[in-house]
Amino acid sequence: MTSTVFTGIAELVTNDELLEDADQSEHLGRLRGAAVVVQDGLIAWVGPASLAPPADDGHDVGGRAVIPGFVDSHSHLVFAGDRSAEFAARMTGVPYDGGGIATTVSATRAAGDDELRALVGARVAEMRAQGTTTVEIKGGYGLNVKDEARSVRIAAEFTSETTYLGAHVVPPEYADRRSDYVELTTGEMLAACAPYARWIDVFCEPCSAHAFTEDEARVVLTAGRAAGLGLRVHGNQLGHGPGVRLAVELGAASVDHCTFLSGADVDQLAAASDTTVATLLPGVEFSTRSPYPDARRLLDAGVSIALASDCNPGTCYSSSIPFALALAVREMGLTPAEALLAATVGSAKSLRRHDVGVIRAGGPADLTVLDAPSYLHLFYRAGVPIARALDPVGRRAR
Ligand code: NIG
Ligand code: FE
Repeated sequence: MTSTVFTGIAELVTNDELLEDADQSEHLGRLRGAAVVVQDGLIAWVGPASLAPPADDGHDVGGRAVIPGFVDSHSHLVFAGDRSAEFAARMTGVPYDGGGIATTVSATRAAGDDELRALVGARVAEMRAQGTTTVEIKGGYGLNVKDEARSVRIAAEFTSETTYLGAHVVPPEYADRRSDYVELTTGEMLAACAPYARWIDVFCEPCSAHAFTEDEARVVLTAGRAAGLGLRVHGNQLGHGPGVRLAVELGAASVDHCTFLSGADVDQLAAASDTTVATLLPGVEFSTRSPYPDARRLLDAGVSIALASDCNPGTCYSSSIPFALALAVREMGLTPAEALLAATVGSAKSLRRHDVGVIRAGGPADLTVLDAPSYLHLFYRAGVPIARALDPVGRRAR
């Protein structure tokens, strides 16, 4: 077991509200002139550099800021194919309705296992290179038993936060017999995927012919829960709808998108803030020319929020949490500190994780370094690739 002491940290953001001597003004647990000792992939000690205990190795980060690695709690990385033309069409005014998902399903079914594995690996590496150390990965582009099971199986090679999304859309071959597809996703497909999945998700959006109604989504989620999976919902993305209501009713860990919310939705989310997190995905609004959710209103109402990328080939092919952070501050009314908290402890909460999104002795050494002296530069220098995950012990993103 080798220990390494990281020094030269101009500003350490820990998100640890109990850390002694830290500046807690914005709940960031900030220390200047800090050191962190890492041993065997875990954080062994955090504090002022002048008090750091001896270690086997030293690593001077050269006056940079260090923050908790980003927790990207919503991504769809298991896919093949390209839909850039769909993006270009949207920029000229063509609306998004989920119909393009079928294009990705065809390409994904046609891809070999190694090809798919390499695509996922490259996307996870791209995320780490931008500061993400924990990633949730959904399937959802197989939509038959073999290809959905393969999707979550490959996802599980890269993360423990895997999500079964057989109920992404109704595939074209089931368009005239939706109930048969719901039966498949809650029966044979669920049984094949559950061994590789921690979560189940459903695209509940009655205004899209491709997605699932409230009743269908309830059947899907209830079956997933009976199979031992935690619940997540894609909801309120394309219009007002039942997604939030259903997520709160069933005690889902997260309802994601929340682009169109009524006052009643906000009230329900606030009342359920210990259980259900509203995960905001502003890269999607950017890439679909949609209105941004009002994150300020949600926080002020007492809602628990998270920020994630939703990296996927249709509505947002960006794996960048710094991009989501910049949008959250510029377009959604959050302060930089609130945005950073939403993409770390907030998204960790949406995964029911308390070990990640924070730099604390005993936790995993998921450190992200910024080529800048302060976390504010993440926002101040939007678009400049200053964030990267430190990999002192070769940990993979989890
Ligand atoms: O999170 N809304 C549903 N699913 C994805 C998009 C999938 C796609 O268009 O390929 C989303 O936006
Ligand atoms: Fe999504």
